[in-house]
Amino acid sequence: MSNPIDDLHTVRDYLRYVSSRFADSPLYFGHGTDNVWDESVQLVMRSLHLPLENNTLFLDARLTREERALILDRMQRRIDDRVPLAYLLGEAWFMGLPFHVDERVLVPRSPLGELIQGGLQPWLGNKPVGRILDLCTGSGCIGIAAASVFEDAEVDLADISTDALDVAAVNIDYHEVGDRVSTVRSDVFDGLEGRYDVILSNPPYVDADDIADMPAEYGHEPELGLAAGGDGLDIAHRILARAADYLNPGGLLIVEVGNSWVALQEAYPDMPFTWLEFENGGDGVFLLTAEDLH
Ligand SMILES: C[S@@+](CC[C@H](N)C(=O)[O-])C[C@H]1O[C@@H](n2cnc3c(N)ncnc32)[C@H](O)[C@@H]1O
Repeated sequence: MSNPIDDLHTVRDYLRYVSSRFADSPLYFGHGTDNVWDESVQLVMRSLHLPLENNTLFLDARLTREERALILDRMQRRIDDRVPLAYLLGEAWFMGLPFHVDERVLVPRSPLGELIQGGLQPWLGNKPVGRILDLCTGSGCIGIAAASVFEDAEVDLADISTDALDVAAVNIDYHEVGDRVSTVRSDVFDGLEGRYDVILSNPPYVDADDIADMPAEYGHEPELGLAAGGDGLDIAHRILARAADYLNPGGLLIVEVGNSWVALQEAYPDMPFTWLEFENGGDGVFLLTAEDLH
């Protein structure tokens, strides 16, 4: 049997071959792309450090043997071990910005990116934003994206995992925002001081049934980043219990709870949650003002 590395030469060959192999494998796409073609383009082009857009110029370019071996190796690990592509590449994109990721942090995919890009409008209005908290920060993607939009704000990236905070620190350096973005080790609010104008959080919120049913790809993500008790609300309850003490008057609390939103709504029938809608998909994100929480 011939070795594909001897038969395949160009970028186009590799895009075609990886697509065919992926289409023939029981992969789950839930970490940045949602189909075989986008996943194949990302694997081939980013392994070659080429842009994802406007790349037709390179389709007939021939690859070195090392480049071919790298792509085939990553393709095989994606298929055999079901490793999310972002971990194989060591990068993920959030709100159009690149972030370093590895298996110490969740792969960024929160719909909060869309809200941040829109400057938290219309909810924020023209209120000034001096301090932002990204609670349960993982790679730091949400807080660093917020820092890129609110250019004068100071941002705390808080997580209980020192492994995650090490990755967030790499991303702070990469985005050159160390003068106003810091990491803080904190068990929910326990390690934090002072008040914030905006608290953004994508905490763990997967309930026990969903944890047991998740596709193999999720097994590569840190369980601390996904599981949150039987109903998925362990961390959300703790956020709701104390957020008022950490928000300035007029401040906003915005938290993603995904599928667990039904259980949350039932647990707090009198809480005036605003459930946000997103053009690019995603749901289960609520907004409360400091006043709603009192
Ligand atoms: C769903 S991940 C989100 C990561 C990142 N915000 C994102 O959107 O990609 C949740 C994060 O919460 C952190 N975490 C879990 N329990 C925590 C706790 N008690 N206090 C603070 N952070 C916690 C995990 O370490 C993980 O990094």
